[in-house]
Amino acid sequence: MTAAKLHPRNLLAIETSCDETAAAVLRNGKRLLSNIVASQVHIHREYGGIVPELASRHHLEDILRVVEKALIDAGTDRSGIDAIAVTQGPGLVGSLVVGLSFAKALAIARDIPLTGVNHLHAHVTSIFLQDRTPSFPYVGLVVSGGHTNLYIVKNFLSAELFGQTRDDAAGEAFDKVAKILGLEYPGGPIVSRLAEDGDPRAFAYPRARLPKTPFDFSFSGLKTSVLTSVRKMSEQGPLPLEDICASFQEAVVDVLVDKTLSAARHYGIREIVVSGGVATNSRLRAGMTEKAQKLGYEAYFPDPEFCTDNAGMVAVTGYHQINAGILLKDDADVYSKLPIDVL
Ligand code: KG4
Ligand code: ZN
Repeated sequence: MTAAKLHPRNLLAIETSCDETAAAVLRNGKRLLSNIVASQVHIHREYGGIVPELASRHHLEDILRVVEKALIDAGTDRSGIDAIAVTQGPGLVGSLVVGLSFAKALAIARDIPLTGVNHLHAHVTSIFLQDRTPSFPYVGLVVSGGHTNLYIVKNFLSAELFGQTRDDAAGEAFDKVAKILGLEYPGGPIVSRLAEDGDPRAFAYPRARLPKTPFDFSFSGLKTSVLTSVRKMSEQGPLPLEDICASFQEAVVDVLVDKTLSAARHYGIREIVVSGGVATNSRLRAGMTEKAQKLGYEAYFPDPEFCTDNAGMVAVTGYHQINAGILLKDDADVYSKLPIDVL
């Protein structure tokens, strides 16, 4: 790959780590000219979760169309791209390989720089797609289907992980509770919709505080508690779905808000950024904002389209990596996981 050209004017970003094929074009590191997402959710729904083999095949079918659409919407074409950023991991290996191979081919053909982005790093810096942004360092909470991670985000290139889930991720808990209740995958949107009409105090579901590692999370006990209560109640008649969803959601939100704010207090940091698919949850957005304000802190949430998987967020991180000369070699591989102390 050629030496990095600093400050690429048009950066193309590609994201294929899970079940969204996404591409975006970022102008001068700030203005998103296009942000295209082709979701496969309808394909995986009938299986009740993501089928990795199907995900990679659909990325392969969709990627050219999605990238071309991102270029057209940005008013450019392949010749107008100055650099490429691609998600390198963590994620589904077969899916990541599709994005990385495509990005490598295009970068080699055009002889432009290519950088590999960590998907979680992209989530914690996605807030920079918004007009209102925090200053470094801030506390970053990533809540998605695969992760519940707390970071101190030091700058665009580095963040320190200091808390994570020991079992289920927050989004995974929503998905599993939806399954228990016979609802569709993914569970988050439907559980939160039902919760709007329920009583959050109807059931006292447990909140795992984990006093020895107070910034870690655990949601599997909560899920089991919902399962036990559902089994008991189903013998007695129709399930009070709205109350179950509202009480479950309240337990998740309480833990996420309390741990994040106590981490902010512990580290003396007043700004908090929440990102990832679960960050679209309106109860979480309201609860975090309200409690942060009471403590004199400020909570930031990307717009929902930047919370769920997208390539705009990959472009933000990628832009700063390219400026720092962090480039991929031609034989670079993808990774499914990273050591826990690395972002
Ligand atoms: O970040 P994301 O799009 O993909 C991953 O990287 O995992 O997050 C997807 C997760 C799913 O588990 C989904 O159920 C959850 O985010 N989710 C929600 C909501 N919308 C999506 N969870 C709670 N409330 C929501 N409104
Ligand atoms: Zn994600």
